[in-house]
Amino acid sequence: MTRTITVARGDGIGPEIMDAALSILHEAGAQFDVEFVEMGLSVYEQGNTSGITPEAWESMRRTRVLYKAPFTTTQGKGVKSINVTLRKSLGLFANIRPVMAYTPYIQSHHPDMNLVIIRENEEDLYAGIEHRQTYEVYQTLKLLSLPGSERIIRYAFEYARAHDRGKVTCMTKDNIMKLTDGMFHDMINHIAGDYPDIETEHLIIDIGTARLASYPEQFEVVVVPNLYGDVLSDVSALLTGSVGLAGSANIGDSFAMFEAVHGSAPDIAGKGIANPSGLLLAGVLMLQYIGQAQVATRVQNAWLKTLEDGVHTIDIYNEEHSTQTVNTQEFAAAICDRLGQQPERLHAARAGSAFGLPEPGQIVKESRAQKALVGVDVFLDWDEADRNPDVLGEQLSAANGEGLNLIMITNRGQKVWPEGLPETFCTDHWRCRFQSEEPVSHAHIVRLLGRIEQHGFDFIKMEGLFTFDGEPGFSLGQGQ
Ligand code: NAI
Repeated sequence: MTRTITVARGDGIGPEIMDAALSILHEAGAQFDVEFVEMGLSVYEQGNTSGITPEAWESMRRTRVLYKAPFTTTQGKGVKSINVTLRKSLGLFANIRPVMAYTPYIQSHHPDMNLVIIRENEEDLYAGIEHRQTYEVYQTLKLLSLPGSERIIRYAFEYARAHDRGKVTCMTKDNIMKLTDGMFHDMINHIAGDYPDIETEHLIIDIGTARLASYPEQFEVVVVPNLYGDVLSDVSALLTGSVGLAGSANIGDSFAMFEAVHGSAPDIAGKGIANPSGLLLAGVLMLQYIGQAQVATRVQNAWLKTLEDGVHTIDIYNEEHSTQTVNTQEFAAAICDRLGQQPERLHAARAGSAFGLPEPGQIVKESRAQKALVGVDVFLDWDEADRNPDVLGEQLSAANGEGLNLIMITNRGQKVWPEGLPETFCTDHWRCRFQSEEPVSHAHIVRLLGRIEQHGFDFIKMEGLFTFDGEPGFSLGQGQ
């Protein structure tokens, strides 16, 4: 049975490059039917703030595959980003972005780079849970989950295996974020045991990014939490010499979306000169995903041969290697003419196995830990007594009771009581830790908050302190 996919032609150059990409995929022998849907600017202009029509949702939920051209982001009030909406609503947990150099045809300082960034797509600082807590201090929550981390890391190993990649690199900042990033790092160590054929390494994100920017050829598959992945994907795409040539896949449990990395290029829209390569390579990923890897390879090799022959759109024109400047349609026709051919100088693509999903992991279910409440961090808005932590410590200790005692106060993570340094700059935002030797109940915490309120303090939030199988589930907060 022929597969049906949902196609959104996008805004700006979207329709031009989508028509070109679809014509090449079909000419190469791809077996799929297309359902066109409306999304983007025209839908926003009808007053639909999601930019996605009900018919488009219905089609996507039926076909489970979306091939989309770029959309123009409108500045309208209350308007939601289509990409963020799709990612979150459809559970697209993995963003896959292969990036490689095409030297000498596209100038790059890193001719041997050929890597894949696998970015966790749903968690981390993108939860958008933000608060202004005091006059001076704002916060955002960074959330990483065990199942979310397990899923993306397993996916990275499965991807490496399916695509003959020998190494998976993970990057975190677990020397500072020992619990969140530390868990992600532990997870990769744990899962690596299931993949003895694949080398694993971990780098701290700062030096890791610097190394990737200087020696990208040393990397194969890189798996990272969301924010680091956002930065790394653009850093690595730029190193190839042209962001316009990258395609990406967004993968979920039962849905996938494929798109170019670039935007809708309104400055050249309608001129018929846009380069369809990014969207075409996203189409190659889509063919791998729907089990048509042979056709995917055929398309990719014809595209590489076209680059080699110097048939170039204007954005990649260079005097040394271009033989012809072509428009979008001519470029598509040149690729179709080369279907069945292999590149001679650039590395030919090999048919990878299906771009499938890994099995969900079992770690989380096996190790559900015993949880106990042992205290609370109470956050205060306090702007008195010249912000002297000793005064705060003394006044707040009056709220001690039922085994819950004030043991530490920090300001922006730095311990200021007891035995703080007078040099530490203090804001109006204080984290005050009350801890007990024995497990306590929620009723104890409620009564403690009552006493804090009676002593005239403005508490702005509380965070429970839990142990899991006796191990503290909270940082010590020395803020080094
Ligand atoms: P852009 O990527 O659309 O354009 C940047 C520059 O690259 C422009 O000079 C453009 O002409 C050129 N360019 C981009 N793609 C090209 C192609 N295929 N062939 C030849 N030249 C190409 O980025 P910009 O201008 O910042 O954004 C334009 C719109 O696209 C904005 O509304 C932005 O929000 C949206 N956008 C949408 C994305 C998506 O739907 N996934 C991703 C990025 C931006």
